Amino acid sequence: MASNTILCLASYFKGGRFVQECKRQNCHTILLTQEKFKDEAWPRDLIDEFFLLPSLNKQPDITHAVSYLARDRQIDRIVALDDYDVEVAAALREHLRIPGMGDTTARYFRDKLAMRVQAQEKGIPVPEFVPVINYDQLRAFMGRVPAPWVLKPRSEASSMGIKKIHDAEELWRSLDNLGDRQSFYVLEKFVPGDVYHVDSIVSERKVLCAISNKYGLPPMTVYQGGGVFVTSTLPYGSDEDQALQAINREVIGAMGMVRGVTHAEFIRGHADGRFYFLEIAARVGGANIDLMVEHATGFNLWAEWAKIELCHLRGETYQLPEIQQHFAGLIVSLAHQETPDTSAYNDPEIVWRLDKKHHVGLILASDDYRRVQTLMSEYAPRITADFSTSAPPLDKPPA
Ligand SMILES: Nc1ncnc2c1ncn2[C@@H]1O[C@H](COP(=O)(O)OP(=O)(O)O)[C@@H](O)[C@H]1O
Ligand SMILES: [Mg+2]
Repeated sequence: MASNTILCLASYFKGGRFVQECKRQNCHTILLTQEKFKDEAWPRDLIDEFFLLPSLNKQPDITHAVSYLARDRQIDRIVALDDYDVEVAAALREHLRIPGMGDTTARYFRDKLAMRVQAQEKGIPVPEFVPVINYDQLRAFMGRVPAPWVLKPRSEASSMGIKKIHDAEELWRSLDNLGDRQSFYVLEKFVPGDVYHVDSIVSERKVLCAISNKYGLPPMTVYQGGGVFVTSTLPYGSDEDQALQAINREVIGAMGMVRGVTHAEFIRGHADGRFYFLEIAARVGGANIDLMVEHATGFNLWAEWAKIELCHLRGETYQLPEIQQHFAGLIVSLAHQETPDTSAYNDPEIVWRLDKKHHVGLILASDDYRRVQTLMSEYAPRITADFSTSAPPLDKPPA
């Protein structure tokens, strides 16, 4: 029997575990990435064919390139490993008539205006918002919804390009600067609150497993230069976990996710204690969240995603692995030292250390929720004191 062929698009260096699982299951794996990532530590021995392009999202080049590959390869599935590949993969599936997420659904996982409108239509709470399209609507929004607001790009990630806006004058000036790019933004109410993420496994429209976590500081504060990145697992079955599980299921249903993994974010308003839907992605969470989830649960999101795709391709039923309920916490910071020495951080709960220039990163794991919280709250200021830079804010996740 001819082996199954999976084409992976990776606009960023990631997804090794996905490829590893494909290989373990005897797939022919093709990886397409950008030239600038050619020297990264890709698992070359597991990748059957490795191709480089200047960019994966330039049309019609990418359609021509993949259609050319398809002349003498039977491509069974196309997988988007990075967020920026989600629409491109959908367009390629539509073009080559390959099963999986198509254009309409992909839009709900990439376009923050599309996800807002869809969530609102399905009765899911969202921060009040307005498209940056019609000026009468913008004026009416600013009259109705008290400032501050956030002006954010509809299809970026890692808080890139997000700006807090304090009054109408500041909005009009920002729109002037954006010119014709303004319609690619959405304006919404700034909701002060705590930010959470839920990482899920979805098979045939069912959320089979969802892990709820809470960020230390809101990601916008961190990425825009205001502290270390911290996140940790919430207590299983707690009130917060239950509320998040419910809204997460609603969002996944509303957006029409059929199979794969999702990373959804919610904000809990300080003013009213309600959870609001922030965004959802059809991929594994970045910034090493996959490893944190693995230390908490025992499963790897990339590997499970590959299993789900392959089960569907082969007409088999995907089975969840056994899920453990440990607690894990992840802490990442920029470091002014090129190779920061974290050996003074030596609690036995440390299960992983990030090996990356000018970065410090640790994962802690324990069966005791409070122990993880205590260590995280000790480590965050200590890491700031020992390593932090006054360098410009990150423009990419600290992955
Ligand atoms: N309406 C909002 N109110 C308050 N904070 C927000 C709001 N929208 C975004 N943020 C902040 O900006 C961060 C990034 O926004 P998000 O919509 O998740 O985009 P992305 O992560 O793709 O850049 C959030 O994690 C949060 O800290
Ligand atoms: Mg986000």
